Amino acid sequence: MADKLRVGLIGLGEIAYKSTGRVLQRTEKVEMIVGTDPVAGVAASYEAEYDIPCSTSLEDVLTHADVDAVIISTPHHLHAPLGIQAAEAGKHVIVEKPMATTLGDADALIAACKRAGVLCSSKECGVRYQPATMKAKALIEQGAVGNVMATQVFGAANKPASYWTGGYSGRVQTTWRKSKVESGGGILIMNYIYDIDRLRYITGLEVARVFAEYDTYKTPVEVEDFIALTLRYTNGAVGMFMAGSCAPGAANSGVRGTRAAGNRIFGTHGQIVFEDNQLLVYTENTVDGLTPGAWTELGFPLSSGDDPYVTYFDRFAEAVFEGRDPDAPGEEGRRNLDVFLAAYDSGQTHAPVFLPRQSA
Ligand SMILES: NC(=O)c1ccc[n+]([C@@H]2O[C@H](COP(=O)([O-])OP(=O)(O)OC[C@H]3O[C@@H](n4cnc5c(N)ncnc54)[C@H](O)[C@@H]3O)[C@@H](O)[C@H]2O)c1
Repeated sequence: MADKLRVGLIGLGEIAYKSTGRVLQRTEKVEMIVGTDPVAGVAASYEAEYDIPCSTSLEDVLTHADVDAVIISTPHHLHAPLGIQAAEAGKHVIVEKPMATTLGDADALIAACKRAGVLCSSKECGVRYQPATMKAKALIEQGAVGNVMATQVFGAANKPASYWTGGYSGRVQTTWRKSKVESGGGILIMNYIYDIDRLRYITGLEVARVFAEYDTYKTPVEVEDFIALTLRYTNGAVGMFMAGSCAPGAANSGVRGTRAAGNRIFGTHGQIVFEDNQLLVYTENTVDGLTPGAWTELGFPLSSGDDPYVTYFDRFAEAVFEGRDPDAPGEEGRRNLDVFLAAYDSGQTHAPVFLPRQSA
């Protein structure tokens, strides 16, 4: 193997163009060498921008002898089938979030990667390398909040009509974001899978029970445009998510777009609040860098949002080179998916769903 992990990109749409390509240019241990997209114009413009050969043929990536790993950035329902094909071709697999649209697909992808002896990871876990996320995890481990009692995630956007057929950039015209089968769901699975991964990672807790209510209020799509869910964690803590994509007054684009957005963790001896570029921490305890009985503001450059993914890709490459599991193997993506698919099922049955679940 070369001294860098050589990747092939599968799916060259919005995220591959505006983010992943740029991030990979900044990694130390990863190099993109080839790409594919079924839309000829999309492949051609990616090739022009990034100066790597891109074609409409998946085989050009999967049979490419120099490709060590693939990054799959396609509509959600294709992540697992394409990942399985890549694994069977001997390529390590990174899938964009969410890992899949069904637990069966997630399990099949994990199993295919194990059979083939290749690594697998779901990209939402890149939030684990955000400085604020790492700091919050360390503070909880140092006892800053005591035992976690509750978590809160709130966010709202006002996505324009054009989003549903072209994302934020309009680079590719598609309908998959509107389709329940192809996307798996709306605002929750599309934008908040980062938040459930962050909370699970920071607190070390798993979700044991989910109850949700959601609907499609004003967007002409099959997926939800507002959702509320409650969680019960394994330690007994409770959690809530409230998220919408059609909130008047919220920003036109961007996931959150409200000042009150963010993640919040309540413990028996303190609180941690993620707010814009700051981590706000209150503790009753004595912890290095914090003032007991007061709020401490810790500044983080969250706006340089791509940096965690530079680390994510480099760490994945290190795992390949060292022959170990990635920091966040596919099972982590599966756990995130389990929570949100449970929410969607709960919203249909109006009953709580207990986790973890097995695929059918
Ligand atoms: N757009 C964002 O801001 C953003 C941010 C983070 C993650 N993501 C994730 O990235 C993934 C892609 O989203 P996007 O916004 O880039 O969508 P997109 O529709 O802009 O791009 C998807 C691309 O996949 C291609 N494609 C379809 N079938 C394919 C196949 N069989 N083989 C190869 N390519 C195929 C399409 O032609 C399209 O160019 C999704 O999982 C999404 O959740 C997107």
